[in-house]
Amino acid sequence: MSVRRLNPEQPKSFVFSPENLEWAKQTIAKYPPGKQASAVIPLLWRAQEQEGWCTEPAIRYVAEMLGMATIRVLEVATFYTMFQLSPVGKKAHIQVCGTTPCMLRGSEGLIETCKKRIHPEQHHLSADGNFSWEEVECLGSCANAPMVQIFKDTYEDLTPELLEAVIDGFAKGTPPLPGSQIGRQASCPAGGPTTLKDLEKT
Ligand code: FES
Repeated sequence: MSVRRLNPEQPKSFVFSPENLEWAKQTIAKYPPGKQASAVIPLLWRAQEQEGWCTEPAIRYVAEMLGMATIRVLEVATFYTMFQLSPVGKKAHIQVCGTTPCMLRGSEGLIETCKKRIHPEQHHLSADGNFSWEEVECLGSCANAPMVQIFKDTYEDLTPELLEAVIDGFAKGTPPLPGSQIGRQASCPAGGPTTLKDLEKT
């Protein structure tokens, strides 16, 4: 994994939109008094959804809102790869899992596709600013390796060609349905069930 640092260029300020502020207050109220710091991840995620990335002013804003030291929120934002510390592609930021199961099942080919279609280096925007990519550690869909995550959805059972189709879908504004891209349900066996097929004997 690469070093995660805040982007040197930051906006001057951050505030939640009125709708997000209301949502944030309701989210904080779910936790017992004194435990409001438990809302740090959902609030950072909502700030990222609002701005497109997790800005330094947003980190300070969330810290203030939760009564936390800014360094504590900064620790969270820089630890989890779900938080983007620099601007990402407007249409899609593709996180390619490069951990062992995905690597053994072909994630290197997915990375080559990202290099070809988006930018030769991760964390760089495509020429039109619509796409970016990065390699990350296990995203928890190892049974459907190799896979990528785009914002909060996962696209699984990929080949370079299937990833190209996913990118084309996002480019046209018609992303494919998340999940397996070869049509299997969740992580059921490819090709259908292999056990408990004789219902009369079960
Ligand atoms: S190794 Fe890729 S999702 Fe777990």
